[in-house]
Amino acid sequence: MHVVLLGPPGVGKGTQGILLADAFGWERIVTGDLLRAARDAGTELGREAQQYMARGELVHDQLIIGIVQEKLKALTLGTNVVFDGFPRNSSQALTFSMMLQTVGLAIDQVVVLEADDDVLIKRISGRRSCPSCGAVYNQSLASPIREGVCDTDGGALFRRADDEPSTVRNRLEVYRRETEPLIAYYEKSHALVHHIAGGPSVEVVQTALRDALGLSLS
Ligand code: AP5
Repeated sequence: MHVVLLGPPGVGKGTQGILLADAFGWERIVTGDLLRAARDAGTELGREAQQYMARGELVHDQLIIGIVQEKLKALTLGTNVVFDGFPRNSSQALTFSMMLQTVGLAIDQVVVLEADDDVLIKRISGRRSCPSCGAVYNQSLASPIREGVCDTDGGALFRRADDEPSTVRNRLEVYRRETEPLIAYYEKSHALVHHIAGGPSVEVVQTALRDALGLSLS
């Protein structure tokens, strides 16, 4: 199954995608993580992407498509995949559909996580991440046992540079302008589109997500 997770910054796409992948052995393709890894490794691609990410703008399509293509090539046929952060605009969505079509695949289901802006802003302002294992915490909503320290590997937690309030405002605007229209695009293209409230607790959202996708652990 190929599932696209859509939703504004901070709604919980990463949090929910990790739980899904861990529980059911799915692969995750997360363009934001891939770009941050390239930036931290100091590659040319990473340096270029950073200029856009720092402003909360979308990195240009060609670069993103190239990254996703590489990841898709490396997948074993039949692997279930959740796409988080991709596609992000209509041009990426069209190219993505064509890429999948050429290998006889398609997007099966789309999940739209939704929450009010005040919830998103509260979550983003408290988000802290581990640089080594990528675990994501929240100062007020999902705090680690020891403040500032990753529960899993003891890494010193940091705040993403694009989580500064002025950048977050732009990221929200870019989402509404560029990404939200993809909901109608997928509804028209006959993919199954599920709208899930992202405001409740992590566990409640995960249950709703599994129910929507027809997944159970039994
Ligand atoms: P990206 O990394 O994709 O960021 P985003 O879409 O803005 O989403 P976030 O990572 O901010 O939020 P999330 O929904 O994953 O929430 P999370 O689970 O962390 O993109 C970053 C940048 O990269 C873009 O601006 C762009 O420049 C570039 N980029 C990426 N993909 C691109 C593409 N395809 N094309 C072009 N450019 C691209 O949760 C947030 C916080 O809330 C956490 O602290 C978490 O612990 C907490 N939380 C989560 N769920 C709950 C809950 N239910 N209750 C309480 N707390 C919760």
